[in-house]
Amino acid sequence: MKFKTVFVCQKCGYEAPKWSGQCPECGEWNTLAEEVKQQESKKPQRTRSFTDFSSEIIKLSDSRSVPETRIPTGIGEFDRLLGGGLVKGQITLLAGAPGIGKSTLMLQVAAALSKTLKVLYISGEESISQISGRAQRLGVGSENIYLHCETDIQKIVESVEQVAPDVLVLDSIQTVYHPEFTSSAGTVGQVRECASELVRLCKPKGIITFVLGHVTKDGELAGPKVLEHMVDSVLYFDTEKDNVLRLLRPHKNRFGSTGEIGLFKMTGSGLEGVENASEYFAQTSKERALKGRAYSLALEGSRPLLTEVQALVSPTHYPYPRRVTTGVDLNRCLMLFAALEKHIGLPLDNKDIFVSLAGGVKLKDPALDLAVCAAVISSCKEIPIAHDSLFMAEVGILGQAAKVPLLDRRLEEARRLGFKKAYTAALSRTEKRNLKDLTVLELADLNDLALKLR
Ligand code: TYD
Ligand code: MG
Repeated sequence: MKFKTVFVCQKCGYEAPKWSGQCPECGEWNTLAEEVKQQESKKPQRTRSFTDFSSEIIKLSDSRSVPETRIPTGIGEFDRLLGGGLVKGQITLLAGAPGIGKSTLMLQVAAALSKTLKVLYISGEESISQISGRAQRLGVGSENIYLHCETDIQKIVESVEQVAPDVLVLDSIQTVYHPEFTSSAGTVGQVRECASELVRLCKPKGIITFVLGHVTKDGELAGPKVLEHMVDSVLYFDTEKDNVLRLLRPHKNRFGSTGEIGLFKMTGSGLEGVENASEYFAQTSKERALKGRAYSLALEGSRPLLTEVQALVSPTHYPYPRRVTTGVDLNRCLMLFAALEKHIGLPLDNKDIFVSLAGGVKLKDPALDLAVCAAVISSCKEIPIAHDSLFMAEVGILGQAAKVPLLDRRLEEARRLGFKKAYTAALSRTEKRNLKDLTVLELADLNDLALKLR
């Protein structure tokens, strides 16, 4: 048997015959790692594609789709982000930082599914006694969950064939290896081969498969991007580990939208769905006016989340004033600070500015723009903002306020949460109807905001 040495980029999977400092494909530095590979000709003949679809050529109009029956897990937040439940043969990649709760969630999902389905839980990370210890802690025990600690993908394939499960969990893809490849587990080649082996096995059998994966410290999946192409859904845990709240966000979903999020909190007995998230996002007292705090309602999918923007503007002691943001995009905020300086003459050039979202989440909704501006003005000019006011509008570089999508849903939620005043961009006549006890203050631009805040 002949072997050859190749250098594989751990980021994109590019193969080069020689080592170099920078990957010629994706441009990343220090990502080429040596891997030993069998010569192509000596390799056993295997199909190279990871799906086995083959059909006649037909017109789209003549084709018929079979409605997919959803299999709900019974864990409300999890079903919501999957679009109602799982589909037979669905392969899901669950990724997140170590310790965020992937194994915990998976054991809970496995337990919920095992009420009606046969589950095989394969772990390459923990021993049987560790898993059963966790199961006891979570209060789950089921006849229908089979455990297997294994890291050799060929043995895993054998055990899948032996047990014939309806649901398969693999914890985690970085720990399994393919014995035909000499590189160590977790390298691009191994991750890619093991994942495609699994897809080839589970897809035709209609096994619902969950593959767990770690992310690198930049928040990217450790392993090649090709992993994301192979699976049907990719779910990421998108919060810091130290937070009580864990946000699960779909990055890809072949059977539904990617707009929904799942909110969980880590408790002593596992992850618990959070239906009413407002209490986690609003930290400060809701009773009184505060300087530097502005509320907003950000939309995540169809779900309005009450968000508390906090800003601190203080004189700087450095030649270059500091701008620090947590939870909101720094570049977006820099643009807003520039707009505030230019259009309303806010003296920010000799001030440090800190902006943060309470609750430790990262949000991108443009509706937060106006809340960031209001909080900065409030902190800079020492104007307290009332506890029952809310700010929702996008702010452009010219300082003008623009309407955000689904405003009526946000206003409805604001009213439900007991807010009395909502600052928005100008509304159309139809949107002004039925606002009842919520006063809407329409703003044209930042000047308007500065005037009305006073
Ligand atoms: P884990 O699911 O092992 O994380 P991952 O698989 O993503 O690495 O668990 C994450 C953390 O959650 C762990 O450090 C302990 C904590 N935890 C609880 O707080 N309560 C619980 O009921 C469980 C099972 C874990
Ligand atoms: Mg784990």
